[in-house]
Amino acid sequence: MSLTPDHVLRNRAVWDRLAASYAGAGLLHWSAAAPSWGIWSVPEDRLGILPPGLDGVGSIELGCGTGYVSAWLARRGVRPVGLDNSAAQLATARALQDRFGLRFPLIHASAEQAPFADASFDLAISEYGASIWCDPYAWIPEAARLLRPGGQLIFLVNSVQLILTAPDQDDLPATERLLRPYFGMHRFQWLGTDSVEFHIGHGDMIRLLRGCGLEVEDLIEIQPPPDATSRHPIATIEWARQWPCEEVWKARKKR
Ligand SMILES: C[S@@+](CC[C@H](N)C(=O)[O-])C[C@H]1O[C@@H](n2cnc3c(N)ncnc32)[C@H](O)[C@@H]1O
Repeated sequence: MSLTPDHVLRNRAVWDRLAASYAGAGLLHWSAAAPSWGIWSVPEDRLGILPPGLDGVGSIELGCGTGYVSAWLARRGVRPVGLDNSAAQLATARALQDRFGLRFPLIHASAEQAPFADASFDLAISEYGASIWCDPYAWIPEAARLLRPGGQLIFLVNSVQLILTAPDQDDLPATERLLRPYFGMHRFQWLGTDSVEFHIGHGDMIRLLRGCGLEVEDLIEIQPPPDATSRHPIATIEWARQWPCEEVWKARKKR
């Protein structure tokens, strides 16, 4: 029997506490006519994050929170499954499913140990879910295991530039100074929060993905439009117009 890692337990407690304050954002996202991504809500039309031809595709959202990404996918013909470490976040997702009359399975588990057989899905996706709250050396091999040959992994994370320039205190905007080393970046605990995040450098990410049998297809560095407003204080618009504060990785499991 494998023990649940301490970061999974800590993050579960934090997200169970935060869930109520995320319900409003969940409702807004479920209500949106079209997908938009990240803290700047950049429209899908502008970024092209989702693949075409999603009808009938089986997806798993790793760290689905309130489940809006899976809801957007379901409206495009996908058969989604949402997985999350927080029972409270999943309770919000379930309430939103009832409200919108759109149901798909919601699984309470850690994305580092997903209770599914190998090759169960065509698409694994994570927007600020497992992608930052799980250890990449645990969740990315697990996502690769869950994908069928030819399946795609898509995930959105804070950029490396943001992680290197963010103050130690949680939720303060990124600065114009490199505040910590790039080499060795992995586990992060920001001051003022009990949660644990993970961020690794680009070379390490490419080697990890390739080592799991995933070919990197794209790295989209998000630049918000000048009039964008943020749902999170981690970067000002002036900063995010100059440097990417979010990045989206796309990788495909070898056939
Ligand atoms: C910011 S929400 C992501 C959902 C949504 N896309 C968003 O941006 O609001 C982060 C979610 O990751 C989940 N999470 C954290 N650790 C996890 C783990 N080990 N396995 C699965 N989900 C996890 C949290 O419970 C939380 O619901």
